[in-house]
Amino acid sequence: MRSFLFVPGDSDKKLDKSRTSGADALLIDLEDSISPERKAAARATTIAFLEDFRQTPGRPHLFVRVNGLATGLTDADLAVMEGRPDGIVLPKAEGGAALVHMDAKLGVAEARHDIPDGQTHILALTTETAKALFLAGTYAGATARLIGLTWGAEDLSVELGAEANRDADGRFLDPYRLARSLCLAAAAASEVQAIDTVYIDFRNQDGLRREAEEARRDGFTGKMAIHPGQVEIINAVFTPTPDAIARAKAVIAAFAAEPAAGVVGIDGVMYDRPHLTRAKQLMSRAQAAGAKA
Ligand code: COA
Ligand code: MG
Repeated sequence: MRSFLFVPGDSDKKLDKSRTSGADALLIDLEDSISPERKAAARATTIAFLEDFRQTPGRPHLFVRVNGLATGLTDADLAVMEGRPDGIVLPKAEGGAALVHMDAKLGVAEARHDIPDGQTHILALTTETAKALFLAGTYAGATARLIGLTWGAEDLSVELGAEANRDADGRFLDPYRLARSLCLAAAAASEVQAIDTVYIDFRNQDGLRREAEEARRDGFTGKMAIHPGQVEIINAVFTPTPDAIARAKAVIAAFAAEPAAGVVGIDGVMYDRPHLTRAKQLMSRAQAAGAKA
């Protein structure tokens, strides 16, 4: 999955628009984009949307972002399990313990709604509280439901009491670069997808492209969006290029030619077995994206 589009869960209009957005996944939001008075209505709107859109062949993956475990709203939000989403986005996650907690809640909800045990995935927002930064190393192995980790700068900057989270050029400042790096490492340690945060200046396409390219360079394999106009750029940046595919194929071929080798040389550069793993991952992403070699 390359692009993950947030859609406010109370908006029939935006939900409808999201059907044809081209996003690989929709993150239907019950949290920050929904006012307290509208939470209940948003749950009902989200269930109706899931029940209908779920039937459509070729649809994107459907996730619902619930309210965090500390809000007291999570259980009521899990009424959306009636619509059988593919996964739940857990905001303000604080380490592996939060994932274990969510895993248990989902197990109960799955039993209640006659959904196979363990089918519902989890995507976690890892850096929205200061405490969460110190727990980045604890996500690995917490639950088999986990498929991706992402990070956020907005809530974190509020909690830190910061005046800004980006510099005049639009680049993230140090505390947020740390959060981003911790998310990337946590995802690698957990062997799940690292997904870059949102770019809120949604009319600035050059800025979005630059940030997405920097994320890909560093190892992120997808990025969240807040506006349909961001999806095409994100999909393009995170679709493996013909060059990258050719390099991956060369690495796979070199190891196939010497199955016992721990390390090979290609065009004067050393590749060892972790490079082989990366090359295989890239090929499966290329395949999922329908990329041409
Ligand atoms: N998903 C689906 N459709 C969306 C959308 C989204 N995230 N954001 C905008 N649209 C739709 C609009 O409804 C509008 O539809 P129309 O052409 O039928 O009128 C069209 O796309 C163009 O929208 P635009 O006028 O450019 O933006 P806006 O001012 O209506 O909305 C936001 C701006 C930021 C309020 C909106 O993009 C949004 O709600 N984003 C998601 C916010 C969110 O979920 N935040 C939580 C995660 S950080
Ligand atoms: Mg938030």
